[in-house]
Amino acid sequence: MSQPFTSENPLARGLHDKLTSRTAKTGVVGLGYVGLPLAVEFGNAGFTVVGIDLDQRKVDEINNGVSYIHDVPTGAVARLVAAGKLSATTNPGAADDLDTINICVPTPLRKTKDPDLSYVVASAEAIKGHLHPGMLVILESTTYPGTTEEVIQTILETTGLKAGKDFFLAFSPERVDPGNPIWNTKNVPKVVGGLTPDCSALAAALYTASIDRVVQVSSPKVAEMVKLLENTFRAINIGMVNELALMCDRLGISVWEVIDAAATKPFGFMPFYPGPGLGGHCIPIDPFYLSWKVKEVGFEARFIELAGQVNSAMPHHSVEKVSDALNELGKAIKGANVFVLGVAYKRDIDDVRESPALDVMALLLKKGAKVTYHDPWVPHIDGEHWNGGQNMSSIPYSAAAVADADCVVILTDHKSFNYEDIVAGAKAVVDTRNAVKFASPKVFKLGAPSPRT
Ligand SMILES: NC(=O)c1ccc[n+]([C@@H]2O[C@H](COP(=O)([O-])OP(=O)(O)OC[C@H]3O[C@@H](n4cnc5c(N)ncnc54)[C@H](O)[C@@H]3O)[C@@H](O)[C@H]2O)c1
Repeated sequence: MSQPFTSENPLARGLHDKLTSRTAKTGVVGLGYVGLPLAVEFGNAGFTVVGIDLDQRKVDEINNGVSYIHDVPTGAVARLVAAGKLSATTNPGAADDLDTINICVPTPLRKTKDPDLSYVVASAEAIKGHLHPGMLVILESTTYPGTTEEVIQTILETTGLKAGKDFFLAFSPERVDPGNPIWNTKNVPKVVGGLTPDCSALAAALYTASIDRVVQVSSPKVAEMVKLLENTFRAINIGMVNELALMCDRLGISVWEVIDAAATKPFGFMPFYPGPGLGGHCIPIDPFYLSWKVKEVGFEARFIELAGQVNSAMPHHSVEKVSDALNELGKAIKGANVFVLGVAYKRDIDDVRESPALDVMALLLKKGAKVTYHDPWVPHIDGEHWNGGQNMSSIPYSAAAVADADCVVILTDHKSFNYEDIVAGAKAVVDTRNAVKFASPKVFKLGAPSPRT
């Protein structure tokens, strides 16, 4: 049962009425993996939604009814655009007519592992000129606790409008898991923390209209920390299991068999799996937002730093496995033909941001291997965006490409790969994902004894 909205602030009551009647005009700044699915959910809920993005190509595609995000069907975008519910623009001035704005822009790390809030700051600066009384602004980008108040509130209040009184401000982390066929923007509970009770209630009203379940917490800081707990939990557990994989490698035990058996315990254990390293926009990055922030209060986030060290060494360990496999064939890495399968950061997605596959390929190139790759999801890799520094294109998968390689390296276990064919045709296979489920003397698995011992 939803609580009656009893604010004394007429601006809050006015916006609440518009949200519950779904007559509010909503806006989303940043139409990427997070922003576009959210905009579509707002449109599906009956709101009019305007997407604002700097990227003219994305804006044009949306206005033409086309989705460029795999998890968002083009049909959903086309239907909303045709109904006049969804449009996109590069002009932040569109915010003049909006009742709500969700900011979903990137929050990467600088090379020094310090937070790069430049996109968040630029968005807030752009909105500032169009902020008006009664507007609700929600930050969704993952960031350190305090950002909503220290950065967004500070910038927006330079207008003379006061957060919680003249406009409303909240943080709500996005928890989308690209490529997940079960959990999506609509059915993953939405955590919301507003600056004041009115801010929380208004943000909750927006999401309640569009998302299955809303969980209110007491402040933006708590909501910011919730997201960092979730992602730090994953980064640390993956770091722990990656270290266990290195131990198993030395001890001649298969870490995969160990995890599968441990996972039969019905309580107190949750399986995490090793791999060639961490990837994606979240897990390798977000914990460092937290460790950076707590340094300000003289605290050292030791688990985060340690997990970071272990996880970032995994590409090197994967290259060692390639070296071991080639060694068995009497070959060096230098001059060897290495055929990489899968470069996306995880299965069945097209995202290569922070992908460990790119680090493995860069290390192999540096050691003089001749590297080719096949990934049905990633047709090209832009030289500017990875350490290998060269433009590369996915070569077609063929029996000849497998047979010509001195070593085939599985770095991303896309479902479409036929592992029986791959192993049958290859001279040697390095499997960093436990994709090959049968024993073969040709398969060298990360975290498992050599097949030749
Ligand atoms: N991708 C994920 O799986 C995921 C999951 C949960 C949370 N997040 C977080 O959500 C945020 C967004 O991530 P994403 O993956 O959607 O990023 P993305 O790169 O896919 O999309 C960001 C969009 O913002 C646009 N943009 C950048 N600066 C802008 C500005 N000043 N004004 C308007 N548009 C601007 C870019 O053009 C791009 O289209 C990040 O903080 C990320 O950590 C991402």
